[in-house]
Amino acid sequence: MRHRIALPLLAAGLALHGGPASAAEPATTGFPIVTQTEDGVPIPRSAGLPYAPKNLPDRIVLTPGADPAREMAVAFRTDTAQAESQAQLAVSVDGPTLEEKAQLIIGKSMPVDNANGPALYHQIRFKDLAPDTVYTYRVKGAAGWSEWYQFRTAAAEPKPFRFLYLGDVQNGILTYASRVIRQAFHANGDIRLVVHAGDLVAQRDDLDHDDEWGEWNQAGGYNYAIVPQVPATGNHEFVDVIQPDGSEAYKLGPYWPAQFALPGNGAEPVKATTYYTDYQGVRFIVLDGTSAINLGSMEEQTRWLDQTLASSKADWNVVLFHQPVFTCARPNDTANIKAAWKPVFDKRKVDLVLQGHDHCYSRLTSEAGREASARARADGKLQGPVYLVSVTGSKMYRLNERAPNQPDKIAEATELYQIVDVEPRKLKFRTFTASGKLYDGFDLERTQGGNRLHEIDEPTLAARRCADEVGPDGGRCVASAK
Ligand SMILES: [Fe+2]
Repeated sequence: MRHRIALPLLAAGLALHGGPASAAEPATTGFPIVTQTEDGVPIPRSAGLPYAPKNLPDRIVLTPGADPAREMAVAFRTDTAQAESQAQLAVSVDGPTLEEKAQLIIGKSMPVDNANGPALYHQIRFKDLAPDTVYTYRVKGAAGWSEWYQFRTAAAEPKPFRFLYLGDVQNGILTYASRVIRQAFHANGDIRLVVHAGDLVAQRDDLDHDDEWGEWNQAGGYNYAIVPQVPATGNHEFVDVIQPDGSEAYKLGPYWPAQFALPGNGAEPVKATTYYTDYQGVRFIVLDGTSAINLGSMEEQTRWLDQTLASSKADWNVVLFHQPVFTCARPNDTANIKAAWKPVFDKRKVDLVLQGHDHCYSRLTSEAGREASARARADGKLQGPVYLVSVTGSKMYRLNERAPNQPDKIAEATELYQIVDVEPRKLKFRTFTASGKLYDGFDLERTQGGNRLHEIDEPTLAARRCADEVGPDGGRCVASAK
């Protein structure tokens, strides 16, 4: 296995430095820039080297506060000439006079050295906002302001809305995953939130790290600046560190704390990567599977998960993390996560568990399997947590032996996105293929005793699988065994 060397690492809890950095002294993380693996293999670059930081802002990503009715935040990147982190914010008006009542808000910046040249990431929090109100904002680079971006704060009470759930974008980010993300936005109006189940990028040897984040931002484009993003870390948000004894260790990569201005209200040792946000009747709880499994925070995260579910007043509770409880590609389920978190999901009646990691699709409603689940429904049994695994990018894994009988629906070698329409008593979950065909769907109905799951009447595509080496589109099977 090839390893990168001397990565520009920042600790997970690294604080942003406030106040202006000196433009005369280029900001630096103090870590060398890596252009080749330790075997001397050059790390591939994105075509045309288009991702140098500039004198105008880019990589503009909106994130929700813990209470997105009253707080949002933005992160963006500039070259080091823009020392101060500045945004203007205004309640939207309908004429071209947004500047007149705009308020200047100052944030914090942090340097990220990279192969595209020194950059500053800026983070600015928009606080004390009015609920269910349309705001505009713009952010500043040395050469001037960005265009105005517009977002709506959440309503203060439960109100129907739509969110988009994406599995691993990770590979072929711009080449392949971008069309899936754009199809999702193009075909489904008024998406109010995007949840990412981890592995947004590969951060291994696919591509230069900074180029990958450039591609990730280009793939979503302005949608990420106007719709709040709810990302979970995957194992690929962590980079390998080779210990003095030659063993590998994980450390959160430098881009996560720079690119996402998150609420920071999660489990104590992993506040950079765990958090919750309450959006119009849904509590979204984001966990960090990698820190739990590999870095010793399982106990703290489990305790926090239980408390955060216990204190939830939301109609629906949705949990988001990367490594799936029930796997569709790997020989075994994620044992430690299953042992620690599944009992909490059951006890606290979690509605949806949104996951990634397996590069296949699975909708699982009963560990006992598809037939047992259908029988239980026919007998009038209530539905427990529904477990989803999905994938957006181009890396694909073959389905495992349990896949044909355990999940209700599976897919192999298929890029997908999921649209969820939330109502106070109904949650409509729909899965679409990259080209926008309905692939899977169910409705959860919230009743006094618990949820009832209803299969949908609309026709969906038959399960897409490879047949030996032939893929579901008739070409080669692009899924590899895990
Ligand atoms: Fe992945």
